[in-house]
Amino acid sequence: MALPTPSPTSTAVVTGASSGIGADIARELADRGHGVTLVARREDRLRELADELSGRVRVEVIGCDVADAAARAGLLDEVERRGLTTEILVNNAGIGTIGSVAKTPVDAELAQVRVNVEAVIDLTTRAVQQMVPRGRGAILNVGSTAGYHPFPGQVGYAATKAFVINYTQGLRGELAGTGVTLALLNPGPVRTEFLATAGMDARAFAAAFPKFLWKPSREVARAGVDALDGDRGAVTPGLPSQISARLFQFMPRRLLLPLLKNQHPGLKRDRSAS
Ligand SMILES: NC(=O)c1ccc[n+]([C@@H]2O[C@H](COP(=O)([O-])OP(=O)(O)OC[C@H]3O[C@@H](n4cnc5c(N)ncnc54)[C@H](OP(=O)(O)O)[C@@H]3O)[C@@H](O)[C@H]2O)c1
Repeated sequence: MALPTPSPTSTAVVTGASSGIGADIARELADRGHGVTLVARREDRLRELADELSGRVRVEVIGCDVADAAARAGLLDEVERRGLTTEILVNNAGIGTIGSVAKTPVDAELAQVRVNVEAVIDLTTRAVQQMVPRGRGAILNVGSTAGYHPFPGQVGYAATKAFVINYTQGLRGELAGTGVTLALLNPGPVRTEFLATAGMDARAFAAAFPKFLWKPSREVARAGVDALDGDRGAVTPGLPSQISARLFQFMPRRLLLPLLKNQHPGLKRDRSAS
């Protein structure tokens, strides 16, 4: 098994644990006996989850904006100051712009790069440099099926997730034999706060993506932790999402791009607004 054995001084640092998939990954790890360090900006939400989990395992709460380089640089040090070793890191925090690039503020386009890309490289590098000398550790990065193909309507977001996929797979190869493992969780659509944060109407999105593609957050979280524990490298929860991701990955771009352009609810919204 690839997950380090839990101990009173070990912790799993989970970013984006105040909501959605990240909160459920923390629940899943706690159910398996791992102490968790919950990280996000909304500390009140983290504290609620800490109250829920603290009967089972040691839970720490650290408010941190992972888009902020200085805050990120101190995160794993703060874990150490609390007498804990980061044995597991889950890079789950993520945001995404939805709609046409022509109508998206530049700041929003760049913010998703800081959270989805910069923070993943930063925290992964710091964790790897602690874990490799110990010969032990596990890192779960959350990508997306959107990372397997260009995605009109979520152009920048899909590109950040393509980065996460490529980076995680490459680093997994580099670290083979060191005792440190990486896995990649690539969810299809999941009902969380993600769409609301992006300013997207969840009903319009639900109508555009067939019901069979949607998965409950807890199931997705369990699949990710199972993939890490089983040292399986990557998982896309649900056969329909696996098939559609592969189909879109290999579909000729001259067919794929107009299809997505016509169907994407964010682009439809932007067209009807203009
Ligand atoms: N939902 C989907 O359909 C779907 C599909 C594929 C992949 N994913 C990926 O799954 C991951 C989790 O998303 P979700 O669906 O669970 O969305 P969510 O419910 O909106 O949760 C996002 C989490 O990220 C945290 N976060 C955002 N910006 C942050 C920042 N600057 N610093 C620290 N934390 C930050 C949020 O916490 P605070 O706001 O409290 O900081 C929140 O806990 C993301 O990487 C997303 O790209 C989601």
